[in-house]
Amino acid sequence: MSAPAISVEGVGQTFGKRVIFQNVSFDIAVGEIFVVLGGSGCGKSTLLKQMIGLLSPTAGQITVLGHDVARETDAVRRSIGVMFQSGALFGSMTLIDNIMLPLALFTDLPLAARQDIARLKLALVGLADAENLLPSEISGGMAKRAAIARALALDPPLLFLDEPSAGLDPITGAGLDRLILDLRAALDCTFVVITHELQSIFAIADRCVMLDREAQGMIALGVPAELRRSSDNATVQAFFNRQPTVQPRGA
Ligand SMILES: Nc1ncnc2c1ncn2[C@@H]1O[C@H](COP(=O)(O)OP(=O)(O)OP(=O)(O)O)[C@@H](O)[C@H]1O
Ligand SMILES: [Mg+2]
Repeated sequence: MSAPAISVEGVGQTFGKRVIFQNVSFDIAVGEIFVVLGGSGCGKSTLLKQMIGLLSPTAGQITVLGHDVARETDAVRRSIGVMFQSGALFGSMTLIDNIMLPLALFTDLPLAARQDIARLKLALVGLADAENLLPSEISGGMAKRAAIARALALDPPLLFLDEPSAGLDPITGAGLDRLILDLRAALDCTFVVITHELQSIFAIADRCVMLDREAQGMIALGVPAELRRSSDNATVQAFFNRQPTVQPRGA
């Protein structure tokens, strides 16, 4: 088997005395769309920050494309694109300027080349006609697409998206799922996507890991349809079958 894109081994995070999760371990294969899911506060964004080198885990080790994230953080940062949960675009800059920004910061490309690349990325996410709009002039779904275009600016082999469809109507959310699948097919990159939208998970995830606040760690790892069928964990079953964890009386 070829080397994994990401390897998470025995990773834990505590803040002060508070344990968020412990013993989290999984590999993500090259080209996979891997979803991180779980209830609010279980540590999904924390795990993402660890994987991209913004936060040092208090236990364990993470390797990204062969680089130890703790020691080779710069090499890791150069090979990833990120859309953060709060994923804001710069409000005073047009969409094309937002996407050209990482190119100006991290490459020596001349202006015309930066413009061409930014236009290409906007076209990839279906925003070819919106390059001169400001973030305040576009819809929430368009803003998510623009943030993805910005994450794609440097052609990273690895993309991290934190809750890309949060706050979007179901149809726009489904459009975003389609975009993620199309981008994977077109660009051959690996995706780590945080979401708790069940439809989205079944639409895009090759595999997923589920974190749980009570368990302070992972409670499931695998293919969503298989987890729905055969996980013996009550929380996992409840999530995938959209049931309350405590059955109503008489049910
Ligand atoms: N830098 C920090 N210092 C202290 N506590 C933190 C820090 N970052 C996160 N936490 C805590 O860790 C827990 C997990 O936070 P995290 O943002 O990873 O959750 P999440 O699973 O992404 O939740 P959501 O679905 O709401 O986005 C939360 O209780 C949060 O308050
Ligand atoms: Mg989060």
